[in-house]
Amino acid sequence: MKYKIAVIPGDGIGPEVTGEAVRALEAVAASFGHQFTYEYVQAGGAAIDSCGECLPQATIEAAKAADAVLLGAVGGPKWDGLPGEERPEKALLRLRKELGLFANLRPALMFDELAEACPLKPEKVEGGLDLLVVRELTGGIYFGERGVRETADGPEAYDVERYSQKEIRRVAEIAFEMAMKRNRKVTSVDKANVLESSRLWRKTVAAVAERYPEVKLENLYVDNAAMQLVYNPKQFDVLVTSNIFGDILSDEASMITGSIGMLPSASLAEGAFGMYEPVHGSAPDIAGSGRANPMAAVLSAAMMLRYTFGLMAEAEAVEAAVKSVLAAGYRTPDIMTDGCIPATTLQIGTLIAERIAERK
Ligand code: IPM
Ligand code: MN
Repeated sequence: MKYKIAVIPGDGIGPEVTGEAVRALEAVAASFGHQFTYEYVQAGGAAIDSCGECLPQATIEAAKAADAVLLGAVGGPKWDGLPGEERPEKALLRLRKELGLFANLRPALMFDELAEACPLKPEKVEGGLDLLVVRELTGGIYFGERGVRETADGPEAYDVERYSQKEIRRVAEIAFEMAMKRNRKVTSVDKANVLESSRLWRKTVAAVAERYPEVKLENLYVDNAAMQLVYNPKQFDVLVTSNIFGDILSDEASMITGSIGMLPSASLAEGAFGMYEPVHGSAPDIAGSGRANPMAAVLSAAMMLRYTFGLMAEAEAVEAAVKSVLAAGYRTPDIMTDGCIPATTLQIGTLIAERIAERK
């Protein structure tokens, strides 16, 4: 198979970790007989420095012309002083909107080898944790009307939360499809006791659920969901929620796995197109030092193989390679524990690529 991938290395450790993800993809291409081509384009701080804007038109065009996008991370202290509209993070929001990436999949998976890093009591996570947050990504308060107005008492600012039935339905469908391939439970998270937009959310999700009789649907208010995630995380399979609630809950879910630096994500559009990126940020403090953990980026490439290219065996080979490198005891500093073997970004990438090649 032939696929075209737009690569947006971004800022901080972004270029290093996407470099290793591309090496993993090349190992897949070589051992499974595929051809991947890469077009490198800029976004975020790197784009501000080289073209004066965080998301150049050329980047949007390259992304649209590709089958999938691989992104590192954007942002850093260098650009923190810029006004909201010009910040590197704006590039992410615009990419999501321009590319129609309405469904954000954030798996929170606990790696057995890293179970010690889980901040919850061992009995809460016995047998491991494996849940999937499906976050709506192009609607809600992130993209609603906003502004600041002067009043007699001083300035007043507002951001509008708005959801159409269509926006809710399409992300709910993704959640139910995912649940069908997992443990057949969807927890829809909202604030329907207060918000009108949440009441439409709940009603719409219930209507979608009727088409999936094998899947159990549960509704939780967001405050309760935040509490249940630390109290009894094993009750969850797929969580589906709005843009802002998903932003918050996906950080919480990833933290409780103890593997936050290990987690990948996929942002999907209608059809198979998607953008894939590690959940971690640009970590400017360690950029260029060889300390970055490339596993989340590599696992993001695995998600690309699975969701956009439909290459299941290839995706599994990448995931197995990551697990095997962990099992052999190699660790970057973020996940280092006693008795493990210190390794650099490049070494981890090399070990993963070797294992992908061996597996075929
Ligand atoms: C995320 C990030 C972004 C978001 C920021 C950087 C705009 O926190 O991807 O979760 O809020 O969506
Ligand atoms: Mn976030």
